[in-house]
Amino acid sequence: MKFFIETYGCQMNIADSELIASILIEAGHQEVEQIEKADLLIFNTCSVRAHAENRVLGRIQSEKSRKKTNPSLKIGVVGCMAQRIGKELIEENTDIDFVLGVDQYQNLPEIIQEIDNKQYLLDLDSHQIYKGIQPSYHSDYCAYITIMRGCNNFCSYCIVPYVRGRERSRPWQDIVQETIFAGKQGRKDVTLLGQNVNSYLHSDVNFPSLLRKLNEVDEIYRLRFITSHPKDLSDELIEVMAISAKVCEHIHLPIQSGNNKILQAMNRKYTVEHYLELINKLRNYIPNIAITTDIMTGFPGETESDFRQTLKVLEEIGFDDAFCYKFSPRSGTVAANLPHQISEQERLERLQRMIDLQRNITLKKNRNQIGQTVEIYVESFSKKSTDKVCGKTRDFKMAVLSGTQKDFGTLQKVEVKDATASTLICF
Ligand code: SAH
Ligand code: SF4
Ligand code: F3S
Repeated sequence: MKFFIETYGCQMNIADSELIASILIEAGHQEVEQIEKADLLIFNTCSVRAHAENRVLGRIQSEKSRKKTNPSLKIGVVGCMAQRIGKELIEENTDIDFVLGVDQYQNLPEIIQEIDNKQYLLDLDSHQIYKGIQPSYHSDYCAYITIMRGCNNFCSYCIVPYVRGRERSRPWQDIVQETIFAGKQGRKDVTLLGQNVNSYLHSDVNFPSLLRKLNEVDEIYRLRFITSHPKDLSDELIEVMAISAKVCEHIHLPIQSGNNKILQAMNRKYTVEHYLELINKLRNYIPNIAITTDIMTGFPGETESDFRQTLKVLEEIGFDDAFCYKFSPRSGTVAANLPHQISEQERLERLQRMIDLQRNITLKKNRNQIGQTVEIYVESFSKKSTDKVCGKTRDFKMAVLSGTQKDFGTLQKVEVKDATASTLICF
């Protein structure tokens, strides 16, 4: 079949789509880049907020009308939303042909052989690490490499542990091998993925040791990782980051709230004070490190004064960037049933204030780099013109510079001439 995958959610899902593509290609199917050319549409879905689910449900709704003009078109739904509500989805939607959970992708070839029967496979498998499957990477120049799957943390707002199952780490030897392979193919910029990479552990190799091993891989230029949980960020990791030349000066460290009462209700297991200490350590060991975060407004029980405290902490820390969300109650999580839920309007109003504040901080941080020389790993043409190219700096800023396709996959050192809240302009 000719398949097209539409991916929602986090980098984990992007990496899973690359696994799915590889499994299907291996079985003789062909990936197409235009949805119109496909006879199999796969939606790889996210459940993290209601909005993420509603968006993809809308998309499925609008794509299924294609079945009228192309009766052989098949639609599959996979990923976190499939895991959460897949059975209802397939029972209620005559146009969905199959539903697969996050640990069931190896069954895709058989499902497709019998595609005329509606099928669903949703069991979680706490041992599934897709061993031996080399993902079909989307980018020619960068690679996401999954180092662990699942999550054991049960932050009280979060659906991920329910839909992704228990935490398990891939063997470090497989990760090293995949990194070498990616580098040999010209993917010199590698991002390691896990819901909480700091708790990676495989036969005595913890996350700092894994980074040390990967730092030795000659075939790659750069290493990053997402996501770090503040409760598990060790001194050892900070030291390894500081001395490993390939590990970029950037960490994504979700704070979620700047108020201890809320952090406790979120089951995050750290305090604001501990978080601030980590920031100090990171900045002491790794000067110019960029720190980005995730943060939420309107968690149950958050008062206006709790919220203001969070804004103050945002100002005090000065994140390079923050992904701001409004709390979305997820059925089955502890937070969805807490008393003192905050109204939608209030959550939204706080979110807007938070985004406005952070945008100014990000702009200031970016403008501070004007006049400095930065190293950019060129990945693609800039959206606006074909004589400009773009890529990330070591500290994870998007930068635009003059260049041609020949520069793709290379490191370029240029001076920052101007900056917006989203981009460093280097021409
Ligand atoms: N494992 C990662 C990412 C989890 S999902 C981590 O621990 O950071 C990415 C972000 O989505 C979270 O950091 C959180 O800020 C946000 N998020 C998760 N559940 C949410 C919910 N129910 N409502 C709003 N935002 C949520
Ligand atoms: Fe969700 Fe917390 Fe696990 Fe991240 S660490 S995936 S926020 S439960
Ligand atoms: Fe990622 Fe969304 Fe699943 S954030 S882990 S795709 S619920």
